[in-house]
Amino acid sequence: MKNKPSLQNAYDLKSPDDNIELYSAWASTYDDDFVKDMQYRLHFSVADEFVLNGGNGLILDVGAGTGALAEALLQKGKFSIEATDISEEMLKVADSKNIYKRGFISDLTKEIPVDNDFYDGVISSGTFTHGHVGPAAIHELVRVTKPGGLITISVNEKHWIALGFEIEVEKLSQHTRDFILKKISIYGEQSTHEHKDDKAIILTIKI
Ligand SMILES: C[S@@+](CC[C@H](N)C(=O)[O-])C[C@H]1O[C@@H](n2cnc3c(N)ncnc32)[C@H](O)[C@@H]1O
Repeated sequence: MKNKPSLQNAYDLKSPDDNIELYSAWASTYDDDFVKDMQYRLHFSVADEFVLNGGNGLILDVGAGTGALAEALLQKGKFSIEATDISEEMLKVADSKNIYKRGFISDLTKEIPVDNDFYDGVISSGTFTHGHVGPAAIHELVRVTKPGGLITISVNEKHWIALGFEIEVEKLSQHTRDFILKKISIYGEQSTHEHKDDKAIILTIKI
């Protein structure tokens, strides 16, 4: 199978359809062979940063996958969270955990099917990365967030540089109150795999 679930194959994806195919095959084992075995911890950093900056109210988790980020956020308090993802199978796993108010399919490279200014907060971990979603999608996140709301997303560091995320965020800064950048490790200190030293930028935008 071309898109056998693995981090390297995920990084090598080329299109939204490739993502649907790979994550459909990965959904049932993702929590064990990726989150647990590879000591993925990016979702905890995104949750920490969102809370640190006062995130609350109705929140949308974009590229929610199996719900790792919502689980991390709910460990820190009470939140009302909706999930969106391009993969129906990933959303089904998330739905089985009863952590989201609702889940719906969307392709972040297109339009998110919700009205302007709908959410108080938008969060995302692991979705703005190689072969997945680029900086243009940030405009959609801003569109669906209320004035006074908060967006906190992770962006793989090499993807951030290669696709010029900072230029896009600078452009948006004319329409937003502030933005904060933090560099963090994606995996735990004890991890031994080939991507163990990969970093991500946590981008927080105050609308
Ligand atoms: C690495 S997983 C991250 C899942 C979860 N947020 C986490 O931290 O474990 C990336 C997710 O992005 C989703 N995805 C990829 N491309 C997408 C797109 N164009 N629109 C929406 N979701 C997408 C995948 O289906 C997958 O669930």
